[in-house]
Amino acid sequence: MSKLWAGRADGTINEAAEAFNASITFDKRLYAEDITGSIAHAAMLGKQGIISAEEAEILITALGGILSDIESGALEIDLAAEDIHTFVEETLVSRVGAVGKKLHTARSRNDQVALDMKLFARKVADELKGKLLSLVTALTDKAETYKKTVMCGYTHLQRAQPITFGQHLMAYAFMFLRDADRLADAKKRLNKSPIGAAALAGTTYNTDRAYEAAALGFDGVTENSLDSVSDRDYVVELLADISLLMTHLSRLSEELVLWSSFEFKYIELSDDFTTGSSIMPQKKNPDMAELARGKTGRVYGDLIAMLTVLKGLPLAYNKDMQEDKESFFDAVDTANACLSVFIPMIASLKANEENMLEAAKGGYINATDLADYLTKKGLPFREAYKLVGTIVRDAVTKKVGLEDIPLETYKGYSDLFDADLYDEISVANCVEKRTSYGGTAVSSVETQIKIVRETITKA
Ligand code: ARG
Repeated sequence: MSKLWAGRADGTINEAAEAFNASITFDKRLYAEDITGSIAHAAMLGKQGIISAEEAEILITALGGILSDIESGALEIDLAAEDIHTFVEETLVSRVGAVGKKLHTARSRNDQVALDMKLFARKVADELKGKLLSLVTALTDKAETYKKTVMCGYTHLQRAQPITFGQHLMAYAFMFLRDADRLADAKKRLNKSPIGAAALAGTTYNTDRAYEAAALGFDGVTENSLDSVSDRDYVVELLADISLLMTHLSRLSEELVLWSSFEFKYIELSDDFTTGSSIMPQKKNPDMAELARGKTGRVYGDLIAMLTVLKGLPLAYNKDMQEDKESFFDAVDTANACLSVFIPMIASLKANEENMLEAAKGGYINATDLADYLTKKGLPFREAYKLVGTIVRDAVTKKVGLEDIPLETYKGYSDLFDADLYDEISVANCVEKRTSYGGTAVSSVETQIKIVRETITKA
């Protein structure tokens, strides 16, 4: 296939250089965006009288045909072309003849590729957001199921205070809800059309950028031609958003791995999402969670690669920018694959409620509540904290739980203790008393579930 830039030079270059320069192997993925953009461009050229209305019609029909032929498999993308723009234009010329050569009037591949990337970025932001909301729904439904299930809450991975499994799951629901919101926010900023900036300086033709932008569903046009072709902020921004959602998936993965271990036995992942060992028959490995945790690293790599490509780049377009695609595609595909597995995996996981409760009863996680009990009876919190510390130390030595210590012994520590203390420190009550806004009480988890569900309906 010949080069779009054959002219001053004859368009032939060193074989290795040719392969090195080409982007078709990865930017072929942008064929729909490229053709859709070209259809809008042809329509604008026709409307403005830059080409005739008949010529515009011929181009639009032929471009539509190329799109449907690629989609149906009737037309195969020729990897000998330098890039997807070349392939589409050459195919157009081969189908409609000389009029096809008019399509590239008043534009450059520089604004064309910026347009393609923005259309693609906008589409994937919507897709990923949709998947995130499905994951949030799966987490919220699970939280509803387990809103009364008492488990141990941790700090420093040390048993800390009793919470519910519902409360724990809702923490992730809010994280992923923020991730979805971040994608929607990035989309708002990127949704301005760069087409019409041409190579870098704008064009002498009487174009209508606003018309072309509206036809492509943009909210408006970019204001500066140099910025239009040099800007890849939106790629960085989305890569950062995807990196953060991967961080959240990775944190959840770590907990799923821990919780499904023999040591914790808090949850059971469905057989559909675990694998066995080729040698150890007893194994049920949480590979999906481990893979998501591992793949987080490569997404961070994609973000750093893009930032580094842009750092120090002079205005306007430089070929370095062709490197935006593979990193971005990789991050999008990785996040998509992870989310597709996590949605049904979360929906099908089962909690081992007995083990969770058992663990919550050990580890003196009701110690704070015992101190609060004394504080509510008038002892300053610091003193109560110290006294309960002593009680816990003695209980550890005697290998008994706080709820197993007889009232007489308690009275020996302080005469503020009464029989009602046992109610105060039962783990179920410890949870139920935490009614502060956002706390772990069942009513509070119900409020959280309601907020999330309402947010999703409006999103
Ligand atoms: N393949 C190029 C890219 O992805 C398209 C733009 C090429 N523009 C140019 N002036 N060489 O960035």
